[in-house]
Amino acid sequence: MGSSKRIINTELETEEILLENNLRPKMLCDYIGQAKAKENLKVFIDAAKGRGETLDHVLLYGPPGLGKTTLAGIIANEMGVGIKITSGPAIEKPGEIAAILNNLAEGDVLFIDEIHRLNRQVEEVLYPAMEDFAIDIMIGKGASARSIRLDLPHFTLIGATTRAGMLTAPLRDRFGMVHKLEFYTPEELTSIITRSAGVLSVDINKEGAMELARRSRGTPRLANRLLKRVRDFAQVKYHGGITLEVANSALDLLEVDKLGLDNQDRTILNTIIEKFSGGPVGLDTLAAALGEDSGTLEEVYEPYLIKNGLITRTPRGRMVTEHAYVHLGLSVLAK
Ligand code: ADE
Repeated sequence: MGSSKRIINTELETEEILLENNLRPKMLCDYIGQAKAKENLKVFIDAAKGRGETLDHVLLYGPPGLGKTTLAGIIANEMGVGIKITSGPAIEKPGEIAAILNNLAEGDVLFIDEIHRLNRQVEEVLYPAMEDFAIDIMIGKGASARSIRLDLPHFTLIGATTRAGMLTAPLRDRFGMVHKLEFYTPEELTSIITRSAGVLSVDINKEGAMELARRSRGTPRLANRLLKRVRDFAQVKYHGGITLEVANSALDLLEVDKLGLDNQDRTILNTIIEKFSGGPVGLDTLAAALGEDSGTLEEVYEPYLIKNGLITRTPRGRMVTEHAYVHLGLSVLAK
């Protein structure tokens, strides 16, 4: 299926990094949604600041595009410290993570995205680093080899993952806080879109923002992406701002439907219906039928389809629901 051209692809594309940086709220008070995570973080941040200590290590997990990197930046800003950003697959050797840790300033945040993809040797360097702010380095070889302990600056590790289940227990246990990020409500997304439109000087009315919000599959990254696309459409075809009418016709043209599903989501539902009689079908079998990686299917596509009650996970595999038949305009009797 390939998700690179997908308008509702939740991966961050290079040109978007700059845009996202502009749109990202800098402080907790500007961050919309995720009330539970925000409230907890505020208490822990205030407590750590009050004691003059670094914040305990934080694990953020949930589907892509919900604001894990944004929250990490906010935590660093609220603590008044610097942030270094890297990702699990980018750190290949134990020496590389040792160098990153050793170069942190006292109190810094180290943000590791896709932390479930760290290799085992690198992960093992992190254990004493997280627990004792120290690493053990081997010097010499053979009989004369010995290890020396190197003290590190105190730091806060913020790990982000779309797949909390793939974290090893020793790593997971070393995080003092674990926050699950949830899909945003249409009301929260309407506020985010209105805020972003203000930052980008885009003219949008309340109905236009609400329609974009409804079709952004609970994800701010998509809401901001759709806002940009629909803005172009409004400018070129309508010579004006984004209204309900403009939003509707632009989103229809982009083939993002009323629930925020795109062609690939509909292909998943139709494949289960047509090739597997509506399910149940195992994840790997379904992934093979779609020509998609099973991890991507599970992490990127499924959560929103499940959240919207279009498919369910059963012990025997995935099944489409009646709601999916109705949404696709199919007769449930066809089952
Ligand atoms: N932009 C992207 N995510 C946001 C959020 N959670 N709050 C405010 N603006 C955002």
